[in-house]
Amino acid sequence: MPRWGIIGTGDISDRLVSDLLAIGGEITAVWGRTPDRASDFAARHGIPFATAERSALFARDVDAVYIATPASTHTAITLEAIAAGKHVLVEKPIATSAVDAEMLFARASAAGVFLMEAMWMRFNPLHVEIIERITGGELGAVRSVRAGFGTPFFPRPGKARPEDGGSILRDRGIYPVTLAHWFLGEPDDVQARGVVSERVDLAGHATLDSAGGAFAQLAWSGVDFLDLSAAISGERGWITLDPMFWAGSDARVHAGSAERIFREPERIGHPRVGNGYGPMLEAVGTAIESGLREHPWHDAATTISITRTLDRILADISSESR
Ligand SMILES: NC(=O)c1ccc[n+]([C@@H]2O[C@H](COP(=O)([O-])OP(=O)(O)OC[C@H]3O[C@@H](n4cnc5c(N)ncnc54)[C@H](OP(=O)(O)O)[C@@H]3O)[C@@H](O)[C@H]2O)c1
Repeated sequence: MPRWGIIGTGDISDRLVSDLLAIGGEITAVWGRTPDRASDFAARHGIPFATAERSALFARDVDAVYIATPASTHTAITLEAIAAGKHVLVEKPIATSAVDAEMLFARASAAGVFLMEAMWMRFNPLHVEIIERITGGELGAVRSVRAGFGTPFFPRPGKARPEDGGSILRDRGIYPVTLAHWFLGEPDDVQARGVVSERVDLAGHATLDSAGGAFAQLAWSGVDFLDLSAAISGERGWITLDPMFWAGSDARVHAGSAERIFREPERIGHPRVGNGYGPMLEAVGTAIESGLREHPWHDAATTISITRTLDRILADISSESR
């Protein structure tokens, strides 16, 4: 399995590193822009080397890096890591435009290194089962997806500052959009509305229409509560994912018989282990070991396509808010 270097010492790094260690992952170095925090992080997780110089991390015995810094820095740091010959798992959003996402995958491919956006929802056992059941035909053709991710939050760096790539769509709305893409693909038409303040989109909702009439109704917010559940509906029934749909462990399948559809849906559950990142980390480690340069479950084409939809939604919101 790869020896990991961690870039960024914030909340998500802490949680993911706990899961990486719990599955037996080896972490040889950590980079943080604040030396004391990098040292504290290393001590907390038993990591042998901490640095505030990324070149020093790249020079170590590191095969793959995990990048968890603000969105606006993802493209530049991913390029550095690729140039250093490292495999890369970079937090969502991989980039702040589809053009940049496309460029990153092209560079990774040319350098022969693995690259994936850390879309852990795709590897969550509940979502894996739902995708298998729906692609296996349990609901018939999917006709609609509904999903929401909204809670009021106290603005903090990386989430609300435009210079950090702050965007509630790219930070939270990416989950509803990704869910819709799994079942409906890239939409033919996008109509979105939202709230923009000081160049940061704080909330929005969108309808994504596909040729043939299937559609997704999605909402995200950093200022209001929204129902945190999701539903995927098809010709023969629907599946509801309990809150928080992107990280949850339970769903109800309303399909198969009138009893199941209307009164007693089948309940499926996959209790979360640790913070929930273990399945993605195991899958990425195995993919790198096997010589893959993309993961088939969240590959370049899927990631670029989702990023393009995020771009289209933001363009619609921005044109409306002018
Ligand atoms: N997968 C998930 O479940 C999940 C959950 C939350 C967030 N995320 C993603 O993870 C990323 C980080 O989020 P977070 O919540 O961990 O943020 P955070 O707590 O604010 O931490 C960000 C880290 O990046 C560093 N940093 C800040 N500005 C930087 C800059 N300009 N250049 C380089 N490093 C900088 C911070 O350093 P200091 O400590 O010195 O400030 C900190 O170590 C984001 O992309 C976010 O979308 C994913």
